[in-house]
Amino acid sequence: MDNFKDRVILITGSAHGFGAAIAKEAAQRGMKLALADIDEPALKDIYDEVTTLGADAEMIPTDVTEETAVDNAVATTMKRFGQIDVLVNSAGVAVPGSIWELPTRDWEWILHADVMSQVYALQQVIPIMMKQPDGGDIINVASMAGLITSPLMPAYYASKFASVGMTEAVEYDLQAAKANVRMHVFCPAFVQTDLYHSEQHRPAKYTNTSDPYYTSKVFKDGQKFAENDIKTGMSINTIPALIFTALEKNEFYILSHPAVNPLIVARAQGIVNGQGPDLNLITKYLDKTHGEKPAAK
Ligand SMILES: NC(=O)c1ccc[n+]([C@@H]2O[C@H](COP(=O)([O-])OP(=O)(O)OC[C@H]3O[C@@H](n4cnc5c(N)ncnc54)[C@H](O)[C@@H]3O)[C@@H](O)[C@H]2O)c1
Repeated sequence: MDNFKDRVILITGSAHGFGAAIAKEAAQRGMKLALADIDEPALKDIYDEVTTLGADAEMIPTDVTEETAVDNAVATTMKRFGQIDVLVNSAGVAVPGSIWELPTRDWEWILHADVMSQVYALQQVIPIMMKQPDGGDIINVASMAGLITSPLMPAYYASKFASVGMTEAVEYDLQAAKANVRMHVFCPAFVQTDLYHSEQHRPAKYTNTSDPYYTSKVFKDGQKFAENDIKTGMSINTIPALIFTALEKNEFYILSHPAVNPLIVARAQGIVNGQGPDLNLITKYLDKTHGEKPAAK
């Protein structure tokens, strides 16, 4: 896609971080916006910001862990604008914790917020895009954590590997169906967003304050670790241009942290050599990505 004016973009997770940044860029490019998020006050702030920029926008409070809520976001977008040209699945949370400590409820939360949310949206939006003369573009926001692994966040890695694998598999099926729908998967390493605030977006059904895990040192250390990684990550300023350039060039993988790329190659080589994860190697590479500038296009 190279002409964004008057096209309709539906963005989940649009109240903060990548979703909000993409929404503002889309507004500046003359797109019509459907903004979905669980954080209603912050969603209203972004809605006010994009409408002040002159954008035609709809605000859709949505908990993406609920299939009916995602269905409603898609239906509301269609009722208001009659088409969906770009879908960005950016809603997500990050939950640190080893597999022997993180409660099952947290696994359910992250898998629903980061993966099932994308499934629900794809199930609704792909048939709509298949019928549109110009088809459409779909960006699943996954992570570098869907291409390589590191310690402390197995639930997050499980969700991001699922997102990348699903996006690749859907792309095959769209090619086989000769559908004019273009899939993209965004795989950044650390970027300065509000991701370390995930606890503030935990739906009540995934909350159990009586579980001792949430007052434990390991939980609090995990939160501090996640906050430090996000706050020392790349500036978000260059990400919207990166995303829109990828749409213009129809790039499937959208990568933002070139210093991590050798690790993707090393992982693939390790797989064929039968070698497993190396803690020292990953620690060295991830340290290098903090504050890194994106690749020049
Ligand atoms: N920031 C990073 O370093 C980084 C790196 C790789 C991948 N990601 C991924 O990017 C995506 C966006 O995260 P971000 O970094 O912009 O964080 P963010 O917290 O700034 O934005 C996430 C948005 O999702 C919304 N959200 C959370 N749970 C929701 C729910 N149940 N229903 C609807 N909305 C919900 C939040 O309210 C928030 O607006 C996530 O999937 C995250 O895993 C982030």
